[in-house]
Amino acid sequence: KAELRSEIARLVTEHAGRRGMAASLGLVPTMGALHNGHRMLAEAAVAANDVVVASVFVNPLQFGDPKDLERYPRTLDADAALLESIGVDLVFAPSVEEMYPGGDPLVRVTAGPLAEKWEGASRPGHFDGVLTVVSKLLHLAMPGPVADRPTAFRAYFGQKDAQQLAIVRRMVRDLDFPVEVVGVPIVRAEDGLALSSRNQFLDDEDREAALVLSRALRLMDERATAHEPLEPGDAVALIESQPGVELDYFEVVDADTLEPLAFNCRETPFTGEALAIVAARVGDVRLIDNMPLKAS
Ligand code: PAJ
Repeated sequence: KAELRSEIARLVTEHAGRRGMAASLGLVPTMGALHNGHRMLAEAAVAANDVVVASVFVNPLQFGDPKDLERYPRTLDADAALLESIGVDLVFAPSVEEMYPGGDPLVRVTAGPLAEKWEGASRPGHFDGVLTVVSKLLHLAMPGPVADRPTAFRAYFGQKDAQQLAIVRRMVRDLDFPVEVVGVPIVRAEDGLALSSRNQFLDDEDREAALVLSRALRLMDERATAHEPLEPGDAVALIESQPGVELDYFEVVDADTLEPLAFNCRETPFTGEALAIVAARVGDVRLIDNMPLKAS
């Protein structure tokens, strides 16, 4: 951790000095097993900042199921090589002992009511674990002022985890973290499946079945574009008719509050913006996906 701080200070000073102006730092938090979704995050950070730090840390605090934690893929060497090839300046990959010396932290950040629904409902404590580690990472990476010049600080999160993004934004606002949160759109495979480190646990049959999720989201998107009512019944029926897929939730919500949209949008033509969210179990993998909806 101490090394991270001094290395960030050195890199930021070098950039501020060279350009004679304010420097900017981007942070890309990840749990590793990187794919093209993570790549987009890192590329966005590299494009917009002088110095970019990525973290690779499988955070035990956010896993409820010890088996899920144990089997989470760990590919640090390949991850570091990928990040470096994108232009990330520094990879921070601490051990659990380094992040949580003396065991789990006694004091944690709690996500509150935003974490009670959707993912939070089936993963108690998950978002508190996320916010606690994200707070630590933001504090560790936060650049100090360099030669009296302001230093912009941005943190990058994927729209793939829409509830995580909303909760992190809310923490930054509620607790005045001096960081700008940047949301990056979902990256999908050619067949439409949202990229995830957990997709590798799907066999061919599961993967084929999982495509129903993005198909159901697209159905809602077509309705939104056509100003039709956003009644999710057909999308739900589509998913429920797919063998091998066990639906947890499918809803149309407000992207900030995560509250289901007022019921009149299900009956009257849709005019605004919303987010369709879905979670389902396919084989023994829990998958989540979402799609922003906008009436064109
Ligand atoms: P992880 O699952 O590794 O994801 C790291 C970041 O990559 C998250 O912000 C996630 O939303 C983004 N991401 C994953 N798949 C994506 C895709 N297909 N398209 C766009 N972005 C994608 O999310 C976590 O790690 C952890 O909770 C973390 C924030 C690192 C805290 O431990």
